[in-house]
Amino acid sequence: MYTQTESKLFSWLTRRYSKKSGSSHRWIQRQRTDLYTRDARHYDYKSRAAFKLLQIDEKFGIFSQNRTSNILDLGAAPGAWSQVALERCRKGSNILGVDLLVYQPPNGSSSMQANILSKKTHESIKEHFKVVEMEKLKQKFQPIEVISNQMAFEIQGTSVIDSESELSKLEKVEREHSLRKLCNDELYRPVDVILSDMYVPFPQIGGFANQTTNMPYIRMANTSGLSFRDHAMSMDLCDAALVTSIDLLKKGGSSVIKFFTGQDDKSLQKRLSLVFRKVIRFKPKACRPESKECYFVCLDKIDNFIDKKQVFRAA
Ligand SMILES: C[S@@+](CC[C@H](N)C(=O)[O-])C[C@H]1O[C@@H](n2cnc3c(N)ncnc32)[C@H](O)[C@@H]1O
Repeated sequence: MYTQTESKLFSWLTRRYSKKSGSSHRWIQRQRTDLYTRDARHYDYKSRAAFKLLQIDEKFGIFSQNRTSNILDLGAAPGAWSQVALERCRKGSNILGVDLLVYQPPNGSSSMQANILSKKTHESIKEHFKVVEMEKLKQKFQPIEVISNQMAFEIQGTSVIDSESELSKLEKVEREHSLRKLCNDELYRPVDVILSDMYVPFPQIGGFANQTTNMPYIRMANTSGLSFRDHAMSMDLCDAALVTSIDLLKKGGSSVIKFFTGQDDKSLQKRLSLVFRKVIRFKPKACRPESKECYFVCLDKIDNFIDKKQVFRAA
């Protein structure tokens, strides 16, 4: 059941949006009765989309608990998928959300307001993970703490201190070498998992400013209800996620990519299978049955370097 404040908020939204457009009105009415929306509130997820990723991870084991990972969440606002990634990944993993909209990233993750269709965004993402990796390296090579000079002398004369300072010199050289290698590597692919739930933003119902200067709600096309148009627009974003996977995903990494079914999804699947060893089409139960929304779960990237031109020429 909704609290009094939530009911008031819904009726205010219903009044406000019913004046503006029929689809927003329908969206609010549907949210009132939808079970996943209620569960999302109960479990403190930012949206019902969380359950789609939970169901995908349940079936395919996208996230690893054995090691820390770098996760890139494309179209991350309002942040439900980042919340799931935070829950499912090993502690210490790095989650970066990218969206056209400004949003508050869930605690423990980072966000970047950017358009994934821009090459500059790819560079910024690479920079972000480079900084993260450097921090990790710095921590790994923390200088050795000498207990106390006097104690060290007492143990073995000067030899303990001498050997320890030699050791930290060696570590310093090794660290600098690793950092230089990381920064210069053309084939630097920092990401373990890419999630792409990109499409039209959800109407936001609280804690956000919709009237931002770049007005994404006006600039972005809305779900039109015309399946051909929705499909064509989603194919563009899927190709952007594919290019991001080629440029930023490690060998062996996985991507989950949302699409709207239509005549071109077969050739998208063909392109994806030139980059990943396994590509599976999957519709989680949490997707509305009437929706044409579906996901490609792409496992095991074939190599660090894959020639984009070949992929796009082939299909
Ligand atoms: C369905 S919502 C994502 C919901 C999110 N996965 C969650 O769990 O909260 C789709 C998002 O994709 C974003 N988006 C669409 N096109 C984009 C682009 N070119 N670059 C970055 N984000 C984009 C929209 O702004 C929108 O917030």
